[in-house]
Amino acid sequence: MDRCDGYHRINLRPRCIMVLKTENLGLRIPKDGNTIFEKLSFELNEGETGFVSGPAGSGKSTLGLALCGFLPLWAGSWDITGTIFLNGKLLEQGSNPAGTGMILENPYTQISGLKRTIFHELAFPLECSGVSPEEMPSIILKYAELLEISHLLDRSIRTLSGGELQRVHIAGTLMTQPRFLFFDRPLTEIDFEFRPVLMDIVCSSIKQTGAAALIAEDPWLLQKDSFDKEIVLGKKGDVEQTEWHQPVHTVNVASHIPQKAVLSVESLAFYYEADKPVLDNCSFSLGNGDITLVTGPNGSGKTTLARLIAGIIKPARGAIILDGSPIDTMEEWEIMTAVGLALQDPGLHLCRKTVGAELELARKWGNAPGKYVELLGLDRLLDIHPLELSQAEKKRLGMALACGIQRKLLILDEPTQYQDAEGFGRMVNAIITLAGEGRALLIISHDPRLFKVFPDAGIIHLSRADIS
Ligand SMILES: Nc1ncnc2c1ncn2[C@@H]1O[C@H](COP(=O)(O)OP(=O)(O)OP(=O)(O)O)[C@@H](O)[C@H]1O
Ligand SMILES: [Mg+2]
Repeated sequence: MDRCDGYHRINLRPRCIMVLKTENLGLRIPKDGNTIFEKLSFELNEGETGFVSGPAGSGKSTLGLALCGFLPLWAGSWDITGTIFLNGKLLEQGSNPAGTGMILENPYTQISGLKRTIFHELAFPLECSGVSPEEMPSIILKYAELLEISHLLDRSIRTLSGGELQRVHIAGTLMTQPRFLFFDRPLTEIDFEFRPVLMDIVCSSIKQTGAAALIAEDPWLLQKDSFDKEIVLGKKGDVEQTEWHQPVHTVNVASHIPQKAVLSVESLAFYYEADKPVLDNCSFSLGNGDITLVTGPNGSGKTTLARLIAGIIKPARGAIILDGSPIDTMEEWEIMTAVGLALQDPGLHLCRKTVGAELELARKWGNAPGKYVELLGLDRLLDIHPLELSQAEKKRLGMALACGIQRKLLILDEPTQYQDAEGFGRMVNAIITLAGEGRALLIISHDPRLFKVFPDAGIIHLSRADIS
């Protein structure tokens, strides 16, 4: 307060209280001498949200880990230079600083593995922050309602869809009200309708609690200009390369191949729990060279539909006919030979020590991916351990493993997730080439780019328990 002419005058200019500050932050990998980023200096004040942009491999996730103090420097994989201050205090890596929270890029790796239900999973971060058991239920219910997951609280976390899981992690991170939050691709698994709602929830929570946050996300999934700051990683010009233009290998989509039904789905119904239909009366068909996109809100049954067609689970009613044969008359190996499934969580594909060995296994089973290894940019990664790949590379490996030569039908569950412009172009080229060979493609997606690139594709929109 200033004193002026005998009156007390309140200074209305808001004070900027700094939450996070970096000075000349740099990160290198000593093994190969590669610099991930360097000379990064910025500040975030209370109530501010910043956008982190940069192409694949530019260090967004590693920056997030470093800013939250989670970099396992003892593992010897990184050299960090410069300083990070949180609330004015120097942040040491590995010191488990109170007051930071992170949403990991891969929601499947953020599950605690300790709790039986979603309610208990959400109670876990509150327990760790010392909230009393009496206060917990009302906090959990409030955030569950905000993230539209109240109906899931009694369920086991292992049964959630990708988007439902992402919402649980975001609720769990927001409810402990950390001073600084890093969101690593929080929208990748979230459906079209809920994305803007989620960003509103995050930004208003940051403002109300006086915290600060950084959000690393693909620019085509959100409104960049709604952020207070932008932090750009990668070489100048890389970031702008977000629009995918023309595929390098264009193929005339199967116009030369006589049309024949590859897949017919007739009046399909499915329930995980009695009286709660996930799919009901779902019918469609796919012919040679057809590309059909499946969309719909989180939890509407897209992945379930994929599992049904791949013969992993059995329908309650209806028929699935593959190349003229009902799949309930086919042996498991016959379905696996004819149907390729690239999973939403690509980590579930991986079981060998190198990318080359994963591909070799597919070849031994008679479904070699052939030219798709190169088309998907995996030829330069053959000696790498599959778990060392980025999420984008894991997705492309999952796609290659699905593309085996005998596969007539390919089901791709969110294939373009995590892909920058180059990865997206490779995926699109592979899809066009597969269709050109007369394979039928059922592609589950929340990626607006894919709908632009295939304007003539069939679209199946699932809503809860029905199809329109
Ligand atoms: N084993 C299970 N037991 C009970 N419910 C399940 C099980 N597996 C999935 N579900 C539920 O079935 C519904 C459909 O799940 P599915 O994974 O098919 O959704 P989705 O459309 O793929 O969603 P997303 O866009 O989030 O990936 C969800 O509400 C999910 O929680
Ligand atoms: Mg899914």
